[in-house]
Amino acid sequence: MQKNNKIRKCLFPAAGYGTRFLPATKAIPKEMLPVLTKPLLQYGVEEALGAGLTTMAIVTGRGKRAIEDHFDVSYELEHQIKGTSKEHYMTGIRDVISKCTFSYTRQIEMKGLGHAILSGETLIGDEPFAVVLADDLCDNEDGESVLSQMIEVYEKYKCSVVAVEEIPLKDSNKYGVIAGNEEEDGIFRVNNMVEKPDPQDAPSNLAIIGRYILTPDIFDILGETKPGKGGEIQITDALLIQAKQGNVIAYKFKGKRFDCGSVDGFVEATNYFYKK
Ligand code: UTP
Repeated sequence: MQKNNKIRKCLFPAAGYGTRFLPATKAIPKEMLPVLTKPLLQYGVEEALGAGLTTMAIVTGRGKRAIEDHFDVSYELEHQIKGTSKEHYMTGIRDVISKCTFSYTRQIEMKGLGHAILSGETLIGDEPFAVVLADDLCDNEDGESVLSQMIEVYEKYKCSVVAVEEIPLKDSNKYGVIAGNEEEDGIFRVNNMVEKPDPQDAPSNLAIIGRYILTPDIFDILGETKPGKGGEIQITDALLIQAKQGNVIAYKFKGKRFDCGSVDGFVEATNYFYKK
């Protein structure tokens, strides 16, 4: 049993190069690309805040300073728009800034998602935490956000939780794919996971998306994890160690997910939020 059991912090790995979005991501962080008028990362922060988390821990890298500026007050801009008809555009971001604290660390070498999460240890410490990959934009029109749903699952099972969705098997080589025993409707005790398997090697059609709840022992495991698929330190490989101990739950979330790290997903998300 953890000393501090409640999820309070959310880690946002945001150091990747976003090569699929070049040249847009040459000087602009991928996480700052807007869907309508709001950057992807702000959607993620709002989801975390809505789930009751107020400490945002962001792993950045070189060329990502726009992220820190976004979650800070711009006095010049505030002065300029005060009392004008445009002031309401700032309501959302002002609210986020006033309710959350933001802390940052840099990933010096981009050695993969697992390595980015390990870089965040200094901001998280010895407590369970959420991870949001902002380029996976999630929305649940009918109720609780994906992160809120996962926190409920965590509170029952008290172990790491990954969000999964059914994918066409031909796409298995884009995801971490799990296998497990269904303990409740849509809730699986994971016993195997493979990073980006070819369709014939995929243990199921349940793919991990960019939402995790992790227990802090993951940091020690990540510290020992050797580079895996693509030469990167993979969170999937570290989670497999926890899974072998029976300590990973996969949760088939309710809602939609858009892969905004790909052009198709980004356009789909833009159309969806525009219509909404
Ligand atoms: P992705 O693989 O989707 O991001 O990683 P990427 O590498 O930036 O994108 P492409 O493939 O080159 O287009 C998922 C998340 O993990 C972060 C990314 O910023 C993204 O939010 N990440 C990835 C890091 O923070 N550090 C890394 O070394 C790798």
